[in-house]
Amino acid sequence: MAKTAIKYACAECGYTAGRWFGKCPGCNAFGTLIEDGPPDPVGLAPPKPLLRLVDVDAAEAERIGTGVDELDRVLGGGLVPASLVLVGGEPGVGKSTLLLMALRAMSERHRVVLVTGEESVAQVKLRAARLGGAANVEILAETELDTVCATIERELPDVCVIDSVQTLYASELGSAPGSVGQVREAATRLLRVAKENGVATILVGHVTKDGAVAGPRVLEHLVDCVLQFEGDRYHAHRILRAAKNRFGSTNELGVFEMTGTGLVGVPDPSALFGKTEEGEVGAAVACALEGTRPLLLEVQALVSPTDLAMPRRVGTGVDPKRLAMIVAVLGRHAGVRLGGADVFVNVAGGVRMDEPGGDLAVALAIASAAKGTPVRSGLGAFGEIGLTGRLRPATQAERRLEECAKFGLSVAIVPAGTAARGKLNVLEQKTLGHAMKAGLDTGQSG
Ligand SMILES: Nc1ncnc2c1ncn2[C@@H]1O[C@H](COP(=O)(O)OP(=O)(O)OP(=O)(O)O)[C@@H](O)[C@H]1O
Ligand SMILES: [Mg+2]
Repeated sequence: MAKTAIKYACAECGYTAGRWFGKCPGCNAFGTLIEDGPPDPVGLAPPKPLLRLVDVDAAEAERIGTGVDELDRVLGGGLVPASLVLVGGEPGVGKSTLLLMALRAMSERHRVVLVTGEESVAQVKLRAARLGGAANVEILAETELDTVCATIERELPDVCVIDSVQTLYASELGSAPGSVGQVREAATRLLRVAKENGVATILVGHVTKDGAVAGPRVLEHLVDCVLQFEGDRYHAHRILRAAKNRFGSTNELGVFEMTGTGLVGVPDPSALFGKTEEGEVGAAVACALEGTRPLLLEVQALVSPTDLAMPRRVGTGVDPKRLAMIVAVLGRHAGVRLGGADVFVNVAGGVRMDEPGGDLAVALAIASAAKGTPVRSGLGAFGEIGLTGRLRPATQAERRLEECAKFGLSVAIVPAGTAARGKLNVLEQKTLGHAMKAGLDTGQSG
């Protein structure tokens, strides 16, 4: 019989190798490679008949409303039966709180089970009492994977939450709970249980220091939906976003506020994040699109002279490469030279603005900070900046303009060719240079 090869896998990044290394070639972490067990033996399975897609009868299963509107929105309209959802987030961000609230609401119409490996039953009870009771939620405190799977298969709940996937262990694997092998095994087994028995399963996963959900990325491929729960522990606001969703739009955004009685949804985040102080230098309002939802975000910039040979470009909530590009285009095409200055940019509320439509507001905030001139009052901006200094139209302009009007902005700077008209004064600009002139309050009206 052929010798089965032993594989090693990195607990941080999931890199696999045929032999052990002290330093992981994938992520350069030390001492993270652990034995991953031999690959499954190839068996002789009988073939199965094929089906034609037209013959498959798929009754569209009704989604299960989670009772938490912002969570429903991010999931794409509720939990899909038999799906596997991974919720990741840093310690203490509120994963257990969010899911307990959802379980409590769902328990009114469905059978729900919480498998807790991290907290004792009494601790969960205390949290439930703080959130206002969760009488119908059934609970299992267990970390042994076989027991968890067997219990779910016997009880057949509609929804099952596993808090957290890192605490589960399969004794036959031998490696420690939380290692790649264990986490992958747990997810694979739970996936099978979920699909075969129609149990919508939510896995809570921890985030590694790089921000990857549940350590190895392998998990993200297995599950149907990956939700990331982000937030600054010093701010009360938490952002829930979908990094992957097989049943809905990604980049859908949910905003919560953490209070003593649990997480409260913020239905109008624009009102919270999209306000600038009138006459303040270095602040602009972006109208970004998060999934299907337009969102006003305050972008702040600081430009400060530096003696560094390589001036710093630091962005919180904006992509650093995009920021470097915007600074370069501003210098080359809009006459805002920043070669001798550090540039810092910050997006309000800890929101990450990934969408290129936010470029124009970032440029406006930087230009305002560099020139010491405030942005025109009541102004919102959106549009992508091209390398030639030309502005490119952004998608769904109509909805963005509606959002601007709804929150009392009076002027919007948009790329030329934006067909939409809003209730407010829409200034179409062809180039970044023109947009900067139109957007900064130079004392002349225009
Ligand atoms: N009495 C309280 N009043 C206000 N906020 C509270 C209260 N108790 C807990 N919190 C908030 O709840 C957060 C912890 O929430 P939770 O336990 O759901 O986080 P978690 O993401 O599950 O963390 P872990 O990864 O450690 O399991 C705390 O950071 C705190 O902000
Ligand atoms: Mg928790």
